Amino acid sequence: MRGFIYAAHPVRVLFGAGTLADLRGEVERLGRQRALLVSGSSQPDVVARAAEGLGDLVAARFDGAAMHTPVEVTERALAAAGDVDCVVSIGGGSATGLGKAVAVRRGIPLVAVATTYAGSEVTPTLGETSDGVKTTRTEPGILPATVIYDVDLTLGMPVGLSVVSGVNAMAHAVEALYSADANPAVDAMAVQSITLLASGLRRIVAAPDDADARADALAGAWLAGTCLGAVGMGLHHKLCHTLGGSFGLPHAETHTVVLPHAMAYNAAAAPEAMARVATALAASRPGDGGADGPAFAGRSARGQDAAAMMYDFVVEVGGPTSLAELGLKRDDIPAAAKLATAKPYPNPREVTEDGIAGLLADALAGTRPAGAPDFSWLTEQVVASFAGTPDPRTKQLVTDLVRRLHAFAEDNDVTQDEWQYAIDFLTRTGEITSPTRQEFVLLSDTLGVSSMVDLLTNSRTPDTTPSAVLGPFYVPGPPPVAPGADISGSLPGTPLWVDVRIEGVNGEPIADATVDVWQSNEDGFYDLQLPDLDGPVLRGRLHSEADGHVRFWTILPSEYPIPVDGPVGAMLTATGRHPYRAPHLHFLIDAPGHRRLITQLFVDGGAYLDSDTVFGVKDDLIVDFGPGGGSRPDGKPGEWRELTYTFRIG
Ligand code: BEZ
Ligand code: FE
Repeated sequence: MRGFIYAAHPVRVLFGAGTLADLRGEVERLGRQRALLVSGSSQPDVVARAAEGLGDLVAARFDGAAMHTPVEVTERALAAAGDVDCVVSIGGGSATGLGKAVAVRRGIPLVAVATTYAGSEVTPTLGETSDGVKTTRTEPGILPATVIYDVDLTLGMPVGLSVVSGVNAMAHAVEALYSADANPAVDAMAVQSITLLASGLRRIVAAPDDADARADALAGAWLAGTCLGAVGMGLHHKLCHTLGGSFGLPHAETHTVVLPHAMAYNAAAAPEAMARVATALAASRPGDGGADGPAFAGRSARGQDAAAMMYDFVVEVGGPTSLAELGLKRDDIPAAAKLATAKPYPNPREVTEDGIAGLLADALAGTRPAGAPDFSWLTEQVVASFAGTPDPRTKQLVTDLVRRLHAFAEDNDVTQDEWQYAIDFLTRTGEITSPTRQEFVLLSDTLGVSSMVDLLTNSRTPDTTPSAVLGPFYVPGPPPVAPGADISGSLPGTPLWVDVRIEGVNGEPIADATVDVWQSNEDGFYDLQLPDLDGPVLRGRLHSEADGHVRFWTILPSEYPIPVDGPVGAMLTATGRHPYRAPHLHFLIDAPGHRRLITQLFVDGGAYLDSDTVFGVKDDLIVDFGPGGGSRPDGKPGEWRELTYTFRIG
């Protein structure tokens, strides 16, 4: 378990088509009357519409926002602002940055109209440059009060720009998933962000004015920005920062090229995060049905594929794939690697100069990060071979079994030696099995499969007594036992008087039910395991009387180890498990017109109740086997125990 600290950043978000029309209302809602409208020089028509909507609330305007928020620009904006009581920014990261810089200095609220996928509109962080040096600070006062996302404003964003800024946003979500501050809330937002952005961008490339696609991409960008504001970023962001700041590479394009390579670098150190990215990318593909769809059926979307999947996605949407095309030179790599590793910061994998140089060489060349090769063709061939199976249930079971076995082998990279060991294990399991030793049942029991099948088959009727596994020691057709007789064959042990009642679901007694009982002796052995014993003991067949009761004498059962001299014992030893069963008495009850009940009653207070090696204990089957009350039913002297219980069968 990893703990975390999480603080949500409370921004009011208006999302939709045409929401720019709500701008005036939002300023009024904050109780403000004099707004400074800041923007860059692009999109003058949008700024004009915003100004028109604000009407007399516009007290000043400034359209000189610039990249990296230079302090001198902020000072000019402040000079132009006069006596404003709020700031409205219109645009992408530069306009938002200037809006934050002015608003935080004046201590007044900011309403940010976001027209790109920057994400900074929902973060409490401000990066400013002074004399070419960038300083970044995070404080609550920097967070905009309200953010307006108007999908209509993004409709005209050029496809190429949509792609690179969308992948830039995805990078926030990807790094959030392996951040040192990662937490479940941010994880959920990050996964959804990646799916929305991937799906949205793919559809924008196909149809740039698809409003739904634009809405998905913008919603994904909002979530990505929320991730960025909530947790620290790692290698990818630091490296892109270095490449932009010191080598003049364009911001969003650099993010787009580097992301698959940064993921490949971190993949082995962050397998869960990568598996989430892979699943999120898979889920973005319409028609596949995502990770559960045919393309992924029987296979998990695996982490080692995530970097290659991201690269393929960038290629698919026409994004840049090589730093060379963005202007980086091979000779720049050593200096870039040195700069990017100068200061330590949290990242899943240690950031070394050599490692980063290798990453940059791959990103320079634009090579596809190696994903795991795809062997699903083999699985599909085997599945296809079952196409003609006449019985639909058989077809379903063999098909799913093959899919899961292949996925098991693939996901665990099973070696030939390991598979040979598994085959030898099963061979030994068969070899040790005899009419009195069922090692396959034991294997199924100790792996919990018997209990799973038992639960699936028998536990859908809450009104009846729970069932429990049959186990390997049942012998069909046990010796008949007269009412009140003793099945212990005079073996030593604490005498136990059993008086159980069989009834139906309405409480009516069931007469003449066949009740088979069996148990181990005081030392934990069944008669089958004691070849020197003369005939069956501690087992028998009784019939319920007219009042539904079955009564007999036996001895108190004790805990016992299941046989460990075979492959199952080797498995228990190899996994550090004990071989013990909690003390119990077996029952198999058959009555005409009723469902068969196979179950066990466990001795309350007995050993191993909470770690039974075959996972057979259920709370309702733990019963008092305490000292008998009143006079002993057979009138003999000495200590005796008593078990009373009512079995309800359906
Ligand atoms: C038994 O209770 O007899 C038993 C059940 C499963 C495995 C081994 C023994
Ligand atoms: Fe048993």
